[in-house]
Amino acid sequence: MPYVNTLDLVREAEKHGYAVPAINIVDPLTITAIVAQADEIGSPVILQTSVKTVKSAGAEILYTAAREAADRARVGVALHLDHCPDRSVITLCIEKGWSSVLFDASDRDLETARRETAEVVEEAHAAGVTVESEIENILGVEDGVGSDSATHAYTVEQLIEVARETGTDMLAPALGTAHGQYTSDPVLVPGRVKEIKDQFDIPVVLHGGTGLTDEQFHEFIDMGVSKINISTALKHAYMKSALSYLKECEASDKWEPVKLFAEIEAASKSVIREFAEIFRSAGQAGSR
Ligand code: 13P
Repeated sequence: MPYVNTLDLVREAEKHGYAVPAINIVDPLTITAIVAQADEIGSPVILQTSVKTVKSAGAEILYTAAREAADRARVGVALHLDHCPDRSVITLCIEKGWSSVLFDASDRDLETARRETAEVVEEAHAAGVTVESEIENILGVEDGVGSDSATHAYTVEQLIEVARETGTDMLAPALGTAHGQYTSDPVLVPGRVKEIKDQFDIPVVLHGGTGLTDEQFHEFIDMGVSKINISTALKHAYMKSALSYLKECEASDKWEPVKLFAEIEAASKSVIREFAEIFRSAGQAGSR
């Protein structure tokens, strides 16, 4: 069964010491390209949609494209809703058949975040959907969601208490990374992953993957991270490949959309290839 639950993929990764690439796709073209390449290199993959992407492409189209691509693949493929503070979009994706959702309650105070996360977990689990939880701010604004300041920061004990009480399946703690491109060297706290995992058996997710070095990724994976999110790298690959081809079109005054799609497809494939190698997920095939 190639369309799988995100939690199964990350649990499998934990067992074998790698992390599953979770790539923020932006349209059906990137879905098809990422899954085809993941399949070719034998890497499980998590397709992530931001709220903005769900609103722009439409949930039905994204789900159908993900299912079709997954049905053609031999590797495990999951569809995940990234950072979503909006409960109505959470409900929409649960109903449409997403594998998992990230309920982003980092804009709520602790008590509200705790109560609403428990409600989302109940709603999602009733439909067989798993939940990633974020209650403290991971820095950086992505697709209109997030914050540039750490308003909510908690102790590891508080994070674990909320995750345990709410029945959360995966945890996204602040680990010193940020969304978007780094403008200065981040102060990373990979030790926090081990601190969490030593006390509570929950998969830990690393956000803000673009711009970290191979060594930094490996340290996080060795500490127990099993899902790593990549968005900015795909956006750059997508737009720069398009720009370079459009410049050629302009120079020759020949305009061919299908060739443009091929350029974007190739650029998207190179993103998953690169990160699956670094995350050691290539050749692991994922849960079937
Ligand atoms: P980047 O945009 O830094 O790759 O981060 C992606 C991410 O964490 C999505 O949730």
